[in-house]
Amino acid sequence: MAILVTGGAGYIGSHTVVELQNADYDVVVLDNLSNSSEKSLKRVERITGKPVPFYRADILDKAALDRVFEKENITAVIHFAGLKAVQESVRKPWEYYNNNITGTLTLIQSMREHGVKNIIFSSSATVYGTPAQVPVTEETPKGACTNPYGWTKSMLEQILQDIQYADREWNVILLRYFNPIGAHKSGLIGEDPSGIPNNLMPYITQVAVGKREELGVFGDDYPTPDGTCIRDYVHVMDLAAGHVKALKKIEENAGLCIYNLGTGKGSSVLEVIHSFEEATGIRIPYSVKPRREGDVPENYANVEKAYRELGWKAQCPGLKEMCADSWRWQSQNPNGYGE
Ligand code: NAD
Ligand code: UD1
Repeated sequence: MAILVTGGAGYIGSHTVVELQNADYDVVVLDNLSNSSEKSLKRVERITGKPVPFYRADILDKAALDRVFEKENITAVIHFAGLKAVQESVRKPWEYYNNNITGTLTLIQSMREHGVKNIIFSSSATVYGTPAQVPVTEETPKGACTNPYGWTKSMLEQILQDIQYADREWNVILLRYFNPIGAHKSGLIGEDPSGIPNNLMPYITQVAVGKREELGVFGDDYPTPDGTCIRDYVHVMDLAAGHVKALKKIEENAGLCIYNLGTGKGSSVLEVIHSFEEATGIRIPYSVKPRREGDVPENYANVEKAYRELGWKAQCPGLKEMCADSWRWQSQNPNGYGE
């Protein structure tokens, strides 16, 4: 009996494989390596001391998926595989809808044909759009997304809900991640974006390591205490632990469940910069730039439901620790998994 982790070579996937193996789950990873390196899995093996069976395959390739389900005794799928670069999705909507939606439909088809009806899906806080009120609960109405990437998450949530409604043998857990940062304490695995980072923390760590000159802060005139946007930064190892809890929920035949995974605490861009500086002693030069299109002023999670129903709560004590962990990974691997 094994858990199939699609996109398991990626940032959140690799950390989740560590937690799954530490919890004694047998894991099989499937990834096309379009945004990752197999080296992450070699590092996972070093951390856990266990082999990570790996299939280099695409979720759009039904025959390849079928082969995995035929060969391995898969009981549940944790589905990370997907494209996630917001700006790129605006330029390449077809590629995003095809990869994320057709890919997931193909995966579901293969799952059905092999009698596997348990899935945990990587959703995002982006499905809330611009929330009328924070913190957002799972009952907060979903909003209009500002880009095709966000719509793929929102649409896939709907598709998975409809599939579960039509066939109650399915267990579907939608995990809405807030802003994952940090890395495994070993510094062996972490976030390795290709090209110029879109997200705040990898940009900061690349400035700190000398790969970029300065950080642009996208807007300081938002209606927040220091004028910069507020987000809920959550340690990637806490997120990873959330997936182990979600698997337990699936084992209880929970049907359809939706959970926010965040800390419940919002931090501004300036607070992140200052925490990083305090944690590392490195100054991050920055200048204020115009607002980034599609940014919402404030988004952070109400995390009570995940605690009540999964017994999950973020354990990392705060931003400083998360920054220190991001930095350990980046400083030990200035070029990520590259040479
Ligand atoms: P990532 O890019 O590091 O990992 C995604 C993995 O999926 C990569 O290894 C990539 O090679 C693989 N992949 C992409 N398309 C594939 C395909 N067609 N077939 C097989 N493999 C494919 O991203 P991540 O940050 O680890 O995110 C994991 C998931 O969580 C994604 O679905 C992402 O949208 C979602 N998510 C991420 C964040 C975040 O801030 N990182 C926030 C919310 C949701
Ligand atoms: C973004 C995406 C979201 C996606 C998530 C994970 C948008 C509008 N949202 O979330 O859909 O799920 O990434 O991939 O793109 N910032 C800077 N300078 C930078 C980078 C970021 O000031 O160089 C600011 C942003 O304006 C934002 C905050 O830092 O206020 C966090 O940004 P980011 O890490 O990109 O996450 P989100 O915008 O929350």
